[in-house]
Amino acid sequence: MTATESRTVDLASPAEFVPQPPYEAWAAMRRLPELHWQDREGAPGFYSVTRHDHTRTVLRDVKTYSSEWGMTLDSTLGTRDPAAGLMIELTDRPRHARLRKLVTAAITPQFVASLAPIIQGHATRLVDAALRDNRSEGMVNVVTALTAPMPRLTIGSILGIPEEDQERVAAMASRAITGTEGPGAAAPTLAERRRCSETGNNELLMYFVEIIEGEPHRLSENGMVRRLMDIELDEARLTSDEVLLNCLNLAIGGYETTKNAVAAGLYQLASRPGAWQWLREDHARIDAMIEEMLRFDTPAMHLIRTVTEPTTLGGTRLAEGDTVCVWLSAANRDPEVFEAPDEFRIDRSPNSHLSFTIGPHFCLGAVLARLEMRSLFAELLTRVESVEPLSGLVRRPSNFIAGIDRFDVTLRPA
Ligand code: HEM
Repeated sequence: MTATESRTVDLASPAEFVPQPPYEAWAAMRRLPELHWQDREGAPGFYSVTRHDHTRTVLRDVKTYSSEWGMTLDSTLGTRDPAAGLMIELTDRPRHARLRKLVTAAITPQFVASLAPIIQGHATRLVDAALRDNRSEGMVNVVTALTAPMPRLTIGSILGIPEEDQERVAAMASRAITGTEGPGAAAPTLAERRRCSETGNNELLMYFVEIIEGEPHRLSENGMVRRLMDIELDEARLTSDEVLLNCLNLAIGGYETTKNAVAAGLYQLASRPGAWQWLREDHARIDAMIEEMLRFDTPAMHLIRTVTEPTTLGGTRLAEGDTVCVWLSAANRDPEVFEAPDEFRIDRSPNSHLSFTIGPHFCLGAVLARLEMRSLFAELLTRVESVEPLSGLVRRPSNFIAGIDRFDVTLRPA
């Protein structure tokens, strides 16, 4: 493969990401003396960053690499994103620092501590229900039984929205981030995906407008929606547009990511004889396992940055306005950093994966995502003797979210 040979694998096409993300193509790109370039029809072409060190450079250097021109391939059209400067993920310094301070101030350590028993309660009830289904049906689809409801309920608790709205909110968030209508959806065209994402985003915004303006009494006092509305720090407050867009950011950021990390991770455990038993013997082993799950099947596979001034990266001269696609899934399998990167090593240490990124935009929900994963796996390991896979992973075609739609197992109760 040469640096400009763009049609070998079409990284803009979701179809290339099933049944597996294109790990071999990324490995070939990593060995190139320059960054790989791909043209796109109807959208800017892009350079691919596949090495761990280059990825770190791009994500840390927020002055040279802007987040304001879109953060995914599908949403990057060569114009500034309409939510830039307002939504934390799509904002550069100095406005980002202000937003980050206010949003972080709402996620206090006390707030996270108050969520721990709630998340544990979700884990217990979900495993109860999964074991019941398993008894009556002889199997469970872990996506519908465990990995989708866990972040759906947790994000509901984090935002403080009523339980009866949570399924609808999760479905809108899923449409917005995957650009697909739901499980089994075939990879549509860029225009169709953009329309679907836009619908999901608009529905979510309308939902937050309606509940904040029309029915604020339905919002929990301790939830993030109210916290973002009320937060005041050094006489600064979020504007109403900022509140709305950052509620949207939380709803979208925390659902599909966690859901798929757990589903893909459970698949790795179920496919490895002995792994389940080894973890059951000592729950202290869960934390390293979670990090390996986050590395091995990276939940958010790429991020887009737009170059703000001429620079050089990976042997390539970049000009202002160039689109750079950082493949976190590729960086997480860089052999310069990870020994045997294509092997799932349950006790890998150290594990400097970039799934929550690095630098100023480091994921604000990382602690909560890890807490959800730990609670669910600890509950399963306590109450389930073994997990037997009945199917492979059924992936949603997407080049952004490593989406898992189905994984059937039999759970043998302890
Ligand atoms: C396994 C689960 C998760 C993964 C893999 C993940 C991944 C990421 C990534 C890659 C970014 C960086 C985006 C960028 O730099 O453009 C990010 C940022 C963010 N995440 Fe997460 N996330 C997860 C869970 C969550 C949860 C549960 C929440 C909410 C409670 C959340 C809220 C956010 C927010 C608000 C940001 C923006 C931070 C900023 O721009 O300063 N995430 N996340």
